[in-house]
Amino acid sequence: MAERTLVLVKPDAVRRGLVGEVIGRFERKGLTIEEMRLRTMDAALADEHYAEHVDKPFYPPLKEFMTSGPLVAMILSGDQAIEVVRALTGATDGRKAAPGTIRGDFSLSNRENLVHASDSPESAKREIALWFPERAKLVDLGQLCDL
Ligand code: PPS
Repeated sequence: MAERTLVLVKPDAVRRGLVGEVIGRFERKGLTIEEMRLRTMDAALADEHYAEHVDKPFYPPLKEFMTSGPLVAMILSGDQAIEVVRALTGATDGRKAAPGTIRGDFSLSNRENLVHASDSPESAKREIALWFPERAKLVDLGQLCDL
């Protein structure tokens, strides 16, 4: 089933000059870039984006990192895009992520791990509306995730 998903190419990837490498992997897989924007996350957006993690001990360093510089926010679409993007991204901890995945090839951290990708259709819908609100106004909310 065709889906949309929200991807953030995190500040470490921007600082390390890996944006092209990361986006290229998604493009070569056959995913479509529907929207893309360079933006610096502020504290309020971080708290909303990571609402389910704000009370966890790892949240303060995660927030500091995610607001530390520009990132690239994108909407990607394609068949089973949510699962496909998560598979290309690899496990959260770059030290454990499989070689061949983005994190497995370029990260040694569970914080500076290059990419955030929506983990479910519900998350995709919520995160797309958060990062691309103009998109949420243009299309029926029910169609934000499913194509
Ligand atoms: S959980 O609790 O299993 O749902 O968390 P997880 O999916 O593993 O991780 C959620 C996001 O938190 C980041 N993370 C961390 N940041 C800083 N320090 C530590 N120790 C840490 N552990 C996990 C992780 O990179 C995930 O970020 P996103 O943007 O969701 O990929």
